[in-house]
This record gives sequence, C-alpha cells and structure tokens, in this order.
Amino acid sequence: MTIPTFNHDVLIVGAGLSGLRVAIELADKFDVAIVTKVHPLRSHSVAAQGGINASLGADDSWESHAFDTVKGSDYLADQDVVEILAKEAPRAVIENERWGTAFSRTDDGKIAQRPFGGAAFPRTCYAADRTGHNLLHTTFEQALKRGIKIYHEWFVTSLVKSDDGICGLTALEIASGEVHGFTAKAVVLATGGFGRVYAHSTNALINTGDGCALALRGGAPLKDMEFIQFHPTCLFGSSILMTEGARGEGGYLVNSKGERFMDKYAPEKMELAPRDIVARSIRTEVLEGRGFEDEYVHLDLRHLGKKKIMERLPGIREICIHFAGMDPIDEPIPIQPAQHYSMGGIHTDRFGVTPVTGLFSVGETACMSVHGANRLGGNSLLETLVFGRIVGEKVGEYTTSAKSPDRACVEQQTFDMRERLQTLLLHEGGDSPADIRETMGQTMDVLVGVYRKSDALEAALKMIRELKTRFKDVSVGQSDEKFNYALIRTLELENMLDLAEVITMGALMRRESRGAHWRLDYPQRDDENFLKHSLFTMEDDYVKTELIDVNLGMFEVKERTY
Ligand code: FUM
Repeated sequence: MTIPTFNHDVLIVGAGLSGLRVAIELADKFDVAIVTKVHPLRSHSVAAQGGINASLGADDSWESHAFDTVKGSDYLADQDVVEILAKEAPRAVIENERWGTAFSRTDDGKIAQRPFGGAAFPRTCYAADRTGHNLLHTTFEQALKRGIKIYHEWFVTSLVKSDDGICGLTALEIASGEVHGFTAKAVVLATGGFGRVYAHSTNALINTGDGCALALRGGAPLKDMEFIQFHPTCLFGSSILMTEGARGEGGYLVNSKGERFMDKYAPEKMELAPRDIVARSIRTEVLEGRGFEDEYVHLDLRHLGKKKIMERLPGIREICIHFAGMDPIDEPIPIQPAQHYSMGGIHTDRFGVTPVTGLFSVGETACMSVHGANRLGGNSLLETLVFGRIVGEKVGEYTTSAKSPDRACVEQQTFDMRERLQTLLLHEGGDSPADIRETMGQTMDVLVGVYRKSDALEAALKMIRELKTRFKDVSVGQSDEKFNYALIRTLELENMLDLAEVITMGALMRRESRGAHWRLDYPQRDDENFLKHSLFTMEDDYVKTELIDVNLGMFEVKERTY
C-alpha cells in the first residue's frame, strides 16, 4: 500500500493564535492547511491570562506604547518592528472584539484596560484573567468558518528543501504512526516557544520548540536565544502562571519580613516594573535570606477584597484553590520566578521572512525582534494577531509567484524519515529519554537561570553536550505504532537539546547584562560591544555564532531606570 502525499499551497505548522491568524489571512485565496500536534484549542495561546496591549485610551498613543516596548526591551528591539506592533495594536484588538471576543468592560461599556509592567498607561485589554482563552476560541471559530483544513495531532518531523527552497515537510500522524509527506510552496512555522527546555516553566508541556529546531536544522538561523523571560509570579511548586494582572489590579509582593520590597529595586513602578527587574528582585530577596523556606515570596491580594478578586482574577483564585490548597481571598500566594517566554527564535524580518526561500515564521517561534532583551507583558498576544495578519499577507504575495514544489524530493525524504523512525523505535537498551530530559531541565534551571556566570554556563554547556551524545543511544522504550507518545516525547527531547545548547552558547557569548540576561560576572550593559543581535546557524551539526546590528530608530538608547 502506498501512503499518500498531501498537497497544499501553504502549510502552517502550529494552530495557536499566530498560526490561525496567518491561515485566516490566506484562506480566501489559497489552499492553506494547518498541521498541529494538538487540537487548536489546546495550543498554549489558550493559557495567556492577563491581556493584550493597545493604546485605546484617550491620553495614550502608539508612540508611548512603542517607547515603553523599546525601553522594556533594554533597547535591543528593532524599532521598525516595534512601530508596526504599536501602530497596528488597536486594529488587531478591535478586529477580534468584532469577531466576538468577550473583553471585560468599563462601566460605560468600553473595553476595560489594566496597568501592566513597564507601561506608562493602563493599556492592557483583558477578559478577566482568561484573555488568551477568549481570543483563541474566537479566532478558531473564524478559521472554522473559512473551512481551513487542519491536520490535528500530527507531529512535523522535518522540513523539505529542494534547490528552489522549501517544498514541503514530513509529518507523523500520531493516531496511526504513519509518516506522510506534504508538499507546499510556502511553510510558516508558528509552533510557540520552547519553555520546556527548563524544568520550571509556565509553559504547557507541548512547548518544546519544535519549529525553532526544524528551522535550525533546515538552515535558518536562530536569533537572540539567550534572552529567556522568567515570569516573576509563578505558583511555588507547580510554576503555574499567576498573572501580572494580579499586580496590575493592585497586588503586592511581600518578603518574609513583611516588607513590600520592590521599593528598593524600582521605586517608581514598584510591583509594575518590567518582568526582568521584578524576577531578579524576588531572586535577590530569597538569596539574601528574606524569602520563605529559602524559596519564595508572597503575592498578596487580600486587600483587593473578595468582589474584585472574583470579578477580575477568578482563574487565579481557582488555580490557587486546586493546585496550592489556599484561597487568595484569605491568604497570600507563595510565588517564585519561572521560565515563561522566549524572546529569541527564528531569525526573520518584520514580515516573517527567513533567509530560507519559502520559509516564514511568526509569533513566539519567530524573532523579528519586537521584544529585544525583555518582553513587556501584554505584547505577546498582540504580536500573534498583528504579525499573524502581516505575515499572512506576505506569504500570499510569495505564494502567488512561487514555483510548484518538488514532489519527488518530498517523497524521498518521507521514505528516509520512515526508515529513521523505524530504526529509532526498534533500538533497545539505550538511555531513557525521561532521564535525559530531567537532567536537561534541571541544568537549565540551575545554571542558565535568572542570574548567570561563566563557570556555571560552561558547566551547563558541557552537560548539554554530554546529554546530546547520550541521546544518540536513546531508547524510546515503546515500539507501538499507534498513539506512540513515548516516540513524540523522544523527538521533542531531540529538539529541546539542540535549543538548550544554543541558549547556553548565547548566554556565554554575551558578556554583558541586558534585559532578562543577567551576568553576575558582567553586570553592566555594554552597548559598545553588545548592542547587537546574536545569530546562530547550524552547519554540519556545528553551530556558528555571530552578532548583527539592531535597527535603531526614533528612540535614543539610554540608561533604563524605573
Ligand atoms: O502575566 C500574564 O498574564 C502574562 C502575560 C503575558 O505574558 O503577556
């Protein structure tokens, strides 16, 4: 029996907000399909809590939003990209509202906006503390309405390139265990972030950086990978996100001495300083002995009162009750920083174009770079919708004149991939993927975390490279074809090991402190040598690193204080 190859004009990998928004833009004119390893409504966009930024307020402006974003990025963001984000924000929010998103409202019926970290105005639009959930459901409905073909629960195993550029991909249907080829004129990678490289992360277990790893192996560079965002307020133990919206609504951070300690670190902004600063402040309090159990501090919401908590933060309350056995109406929440977001990703321009012909990327998977060294809360959901539309337009332009894909090339690679997976499945007696994954996560948490220094980073790199060697002899431990999630976890691990190596290489190379990347041995920002993006290109299993210019613009590079 021959296994069919599927043919489409455009393939989008990932069905979160970015992927869906690209698909919606293209659906009227092209045969577009989405390939996703989970059902679209299980994509990690669904977990975004606090909100989406747009300068809707009478006194607010796109310029102010752009300035806050550039300053928040520690001046590493490309200012041409930030300008688009800030200018297009109101349109993106209103579009989704018209599609049906149930934003929270002010008393006079306007979309409600709350203060968020590093912002001069309350510009974060929200749907209680379930903003991503609302936006994703609405956007998915729009995709359904347009009849977009979705291959859900398919795991993409490789990109296929011919002499003319990208011509498709290979993917494993999880239900059957069969590998199929897909031809396409253009492929868009929108697989979200790679937070699960760390053991403690707010990210869903699916966030294993598959798109970034595919791109790296497919010849597209990754950019700014050392910039990992640690969200300051994650539930102690489980690392579940406690939204920044909780501080936006007036929540306090309190140490074991009962002090609101942020006055030492960001006297003007206090709890609403940008995330990199708040995360470091919490770590410092704990390291200097003012934490609880040497691990966490308190996020205190009690003074907000039951009514406000029930109305604005109902999801947070539920999570606390179910996962920590406490009610934030009556008790402070134990929190600590954990990995949350990846500022780095696939190197693209502001239209999502990568250096590989026919390959595009968008959302957290991409690094355009709109967030630079530190993202502001509320700009991530925004990025997905603004750039989903723009990248969709660009992919449409490209696809109109692109050559037909090379089917023979896709078929050959599909055959090779089947053989590779078969060999992997049948290999017995080697290392356990779970053990390797556990060591990788702990290594990244401890040695490549909020505070970094060269000896720890060198030890991390050595360990990750040892794990990569061990992975060559890995045993999946389960040879069934159908629903073989042990195989999926193994392939995800392979992706994460490549990314862990690149993150650590970037952190070692950047001998300065900027945004979320803090080197104890180089505690100053060094604009002379490092006001640059880092770029990582894989050549024959070896990763080459270089530095490239940042697009500066209307905002002068200055010292960053709050
Ligand atoms: O804290 C939060 O609600 C997260 C928002 C974001 O990452 O943009």
